[in-house]
Amino acid sequence: MKFKQQYASLVSRWHFVIIARSEPHRSNRMLSAEITELLKPIQQFLHCETPQGWLVEAEKPDNLSVLLHDHLICELKAAQSAMYLIRRYAVDEQSADALLQWLKPYEDFTYRQQGDWQSLAGLSLKKSMLPKANNAYSQSLIDKMVLLIKEELHHFYQVLEVMAEQGIVYSKITSSRYAKGLLRHVRPYEPEAMIDKLICGAFIEARSCERFAKLAPQLPKRVGDFYISLLRSEARHYQDYLTLAEDIAKQDISERVAFFAAVEAELILSADADFKFHSGLPA
Ligand SMILES: [Fe+2]
Ligand SMILES: [Fe+2]
Repeated sequence: MKFKQQYASLVSRWHFVIIARSEPHRSNRMLSAEITELLKPIQQFLHCETPQGWLVEAEKPDNLSVLLHDHLICELKAAQSAMYLIRRYAVDEQSADALLQWLKPYEDFTYRQQGDWQSLAGLSLKKSMLPKANNAYSQSLIDKMVLLIKEELHHFYQVLEVMAEQGIVYSKITSSRYAKGLLRHVRPYEPEAMIDKLICGAFIEARSCERFAKLAPQLPKRVGDFYISLLRSEARHYQDYLTLAEDIAKQDISERVAFFAAVEAELILSADADFKFHSGLPA
């Protein structure tokens, strides 16, 4: 009995020591009621939760660099796909050129490693966007997507700030299977192609939010706090994509949304040897 008591006391002391030693670098915070509310529709929209196996991998300090690198690329990809959508479908030629110029320094840094990251602070769109003629949904697409690009590019810069603070130097990485796995199901004719791309965009945004919330309590405090701050703007993005898809389709798109929800869940739950921000179950 005495041994049992001593053992229990020792275990509880060890437990305390382990917690005390592991807590300082963790953000160790519960999600606030506001964030929990924000997440509810996102969790309902997604067909599965991020599996525990992925979170275990994501918590490993050695994986912080790849997580932030891939997240950084996701922010740029989000800006690029929003830009692609308005260049392809909504704006006149001169506006399309101005959009390309806006993103160029970010792409030069990311893909060609030209320039230093601090020089990306405060870059802005130099021209107001003019809609293509004869296009009923152009203005709404432009308004939503220009705001979204601004936010994503700001997030891109913020990820670089966090990386610098964590002592992580940017280098090129390969992209994960996730976005490609969704986009290969896009129908090859219009306007269905555009509707499908918008639905894919909604899933990528929603999954990012769900993972920010899961990761926030597990990562170093600075990164966790940053992920909570991102949730506030990202939580609206998936709705923006869905609303645009519905507006353009002018009919119920729930069947197509359910199709992509199943594809997305399969990408999240199936084995994936390449650990990334949106990867599947670590193999
Ligand atoms: Fe973002
Ligand atoms: Fe976003």
